This record gives sequence, C-alpha cells and structure tokens, in this order.
Amino acid sequence: MTSDIRPHEKLDRAVIFLGPPGAGKGTQAKELARRFSAPHLSTGDMLREHVAQGTSLGQRAQPIMSRGELVPDSIVLRMVAERIERPDCTHGFVFDGFPRTVAQAQWLGELLKQHGFKQPLVVHMVIDPALLLRRITGRRTCKVGGEIYNVYERPPKVEGRCDNDGGELEQRADDREEIVGPRLAAYEKQTAPLAAYYRRLGRLRDIDASKSVDEVAASIVAVVNDARKL
Ligand code: AP5
Repeated sequence: MTSDIRPHEKLDRAVIFLGPPGAGKGTQAKELARRFSAPHLSTGDMLREHVAQGTSLGQRAQPIMSRGELVPDSIVLRMVAERIERPDCTHGFVFDGFPRTVAQAQWLGELLKQHGFKQPLVVHMVIDPALLLRRITGRRTCKVGGEIYNVYERPPKVEGRCDNDGGELEQRADDREEIVGPRLAAYEKQTAPLAAYYRRLGRLRDIDASKSVDEVAASIVAVVNDARKL
C-alpha cells in the first residue's frame, strides 16, 4: 500500500490534519511529510518554539496555551502566512493543528488561491474519545528533534531518551490531566465544525485513527495517492 511512492514524488497541495488533541495528527503528519520530503507545519510546534525562546509572541501565547485555549488569529495567521512564503513550500506542505476554526479555514482557502495551490486535502482523524487521555498523558517528545513517543503505546528503546538522536524526552506543559478537559472542549466547540465545512467542499477524508500507527499511516497514504490521481 505504501510502497508506490517514489522518493522524487512531491506533494502537489496542502494536506491538513484535523482531529482532537491526542488523535495522532503530529505522529502521522511528520511521517507523511517525511515520505514526500515536504515541510511539516505544526502551529503548535511553532508556538511552543516561540514560548521556549521567550519572544514577545511566545509571551502572549504561553498563558493561553497553558489554559488549553486557542491562541488568537492575530498571532497564528501571521505566523502561517510567513511560513508558507518560504521556498520549501513550493510543492505543498503538511499542516498539523491548522486551521482550527472555520474563520482560519476561510482565510487559508484565500491564501492558497493567491499562491496558486490546488484546494487542500483534509485528513480527518476519527477516534474513540476513550483513547485520548492515555495518548495525551503518556506522550513524551524529544527536545532535540521533536520525535513523538508514548510511555504506554510507543516507548523509546531507552527510557527518557530519543531512539533517533539520544535527545532527552520531555512532557508538554499542556499535557497535564487538568488541561486535557479544556483542550478537548475547545476542540469540540471551535474546531470540530471544520469537519462539516470541509465535507461540504468535498475535501474531507475520514481516517480511523484508533488503529495502530502503521495501519493509520497506510490509510493516509492511500487517500493522499487517490487525491493526487484526480
Ligand atoms: P497542538 O500542538 O496542535 O496540539 P493538539 O491539537 O492539542 O494536538 P496534540 O499535539 O495534543 O495531539 P496530536 O493529534 O498531534 O497527537 P500525537 O501525534 O502527538 O496545539 C497546542 C496548543 O497550541 C493549542 O491548545 C492552542 O493553544 C495552540 N494552537 C495550535 N495551533 C493553533 C491554531 N491554529 N489556532 C489557535 N491556537 C493554536 O499523538 C499523541 C500520543 O499518542 C503520542 O504519545 C503518540 O505517540 C501516541 N499515538 C499516536 N498515534 C497512535 C496510534 N495510532 N496508536 C497508539 N498511540 C498513538
């Protein structure tokens, strides 16, 4: 299923990962980006980098993120517009955690049109909500390369260390159990309506995100390949 991608093949559009916190968007978006040598654009990672560097943007975003709420569009849209101007985005890119509201999606649609991109493909990660808490509280991320692990489901070979580069694994500040509820509530209220929005446009593909990482990855590659044939 996944072997029909040759190394030189490029993504020809934006692929958007949509789904609740802990559904596996980051895990799968990174993998898809790797396969197509396309940039992985995670607004969450970009914001966390600003927070870590203590930029003024990071200082504004940090208290909002630590409450599990969405950061205002005035911050996020500028960050995205600047990022997709870069030359590595010419052939397409993988969005992880963006857009997150219908207003962001409408803005993005216009931006993609202006840049001459095809309409995006939206990978909708559909998951049994009972799995989310374990996935979120078990998550550990490499401080160096950002690789994602899970102490229950996908542990590293050596505890606390990344398999790829030996980097220290850390827990995200918003992965504490008491922040998970507000994050899921924000998703239901502000982001879940995006599924209906993109379904109406014929852009949405449902993926069963409850399965194993490899099974989910194979389903995603299949829908991306189907879309590229059209
Ligand atoms: P963001 O970083 O985007 O977080 P999120 O959407 O809450 O999603 P997560 O990163 O928690 O989960 P994921 O779906 O990527 O799962 P993962 O692959 O890691 O946003 C953080 C914050 O930034 C927001 O709350 C908001 O404040 C702000 N923000 C970001 N974008 C914004 C925007 N556009 N507008 C406004 N504000 C914005 O997997 C989870 C765990 O499960 C891992 O441990 C993994 O190893 C494991 N796992 C994955 N797949 C499987 C599988 N198939 N089987 C078993 N385990 C699995």
